[in-house]
Amino acid sequence: MPTPCSDRARFAGRAVAILGGNAGIGLAAARLFAAEGARLAITGRNAATLDAVAAETGASVHVADMGDIAASTAALHAIGAALGPIDVLFLNAGVGGFAPVADVTEPFWDGIHDVNLRGAFFALQAAIPLMRDGGAIVVTGSIGSIAAVPGNVAYAAAKAGLRAVVRIVAKELLPRGIRVNMVSPGPTETEIFKRDASAAEIAAVRDMLSGVVPIGRMGEAEEVARAALFLASSEASFINGVDLFVDGGCLELG
Ligand SMILES: NC(=O)c1ccc[n+]([C@@H]2O[C@H](COP(=O)([O-])OP(=O)(O)OC[C@H]3O[C@@H](n4cnc5c(N)ncnc54)[C@H](OP(=O)(O)O)[C@@H]3O)[C@@H](O)[C@H]2O)c1
Repeated sequence: MPTPCSDRARFAGRAVAILGGNAGIGLAAARLFAAEGARLAITGRNAATLDAVAAETGASVHVADMGDIAASTAALHAIGAALGPIDVLFLNAGVGGFAPVADVTEPFWDGIHDVNLRGAFFALQAAIPLMRDGGAIVVTGSIGSIAAVPGNVAYAAAKAGLRAVVRIVAKELLPRGIRVNMVSPGPTETEIFKRDASAAEIAAVRDMLSGVVPIGRMGEAEEVARAALFLASSEASFINGVDLFVDGGCLELG
């Protein structure tokens, strides 16, 4: 089980924006950032869960669908107004979806890419001018960008595209001293594979995913979030442009 690291204060007074911070990995990160003294702003689509995070962490919260570029850009400007210059951006929002190649429709493909690649890119583009020089950006990728998992083609292509975006943004931001890294989870216990699924389907997916992780279990959201905080912190001051896989050994040992 993960152990808490709330005795540290790596982000005391820092302005931290989490896009997709009201569930799963983003919520775990919000709790850890808050415990380490950050001033938080969080986006998501679900107003009720956003309000719950606000009550728990003191975050300013902003309802915005990352697939809606205008809404997402407006939320980022509101975050800039609320926090001032952003020290840390955790671009984490994402959606999943499985379909074998033959069954992929245009709406299915677009639904994933509108959020995970197009929305993520334009959110980055809008956020960059709001960042403080010397800050850090962490983007959530996936082992899916590399692993050849049948049925994962649309999601994998979006996350692989996002990996390319991160590499180039990291290079373009070198003059401003802003580090840009990716944290890429393996199978992790969050809402992403439970949305619109029955209890039996969830149990079957959990069994299947646990079986493919060399460590023998799915990851916990906090285990991925802790890696994101590390990359965002000054402890990672010499790490730039990397894709850190937090996957229980899936890629290297699977
Ligand atoms: N869990 C895994 O096994 C796994 C593996 C590899 C990569 N990932 C990646 O990890 C990231 C976090 O996922 P998770 O597992 O923590 O899933 P999750 O529990 O479903 O959380 C997803 C987060 O993203 C937000 N979000 C989703 N679509 C959005 C949209 N269109 N606009 C704004 N916010 C949106 C959600 O907010 P709302 O609840 O308000 O919609 C929520 O805060 C994603 O990028 C995902 O692709 C997860």
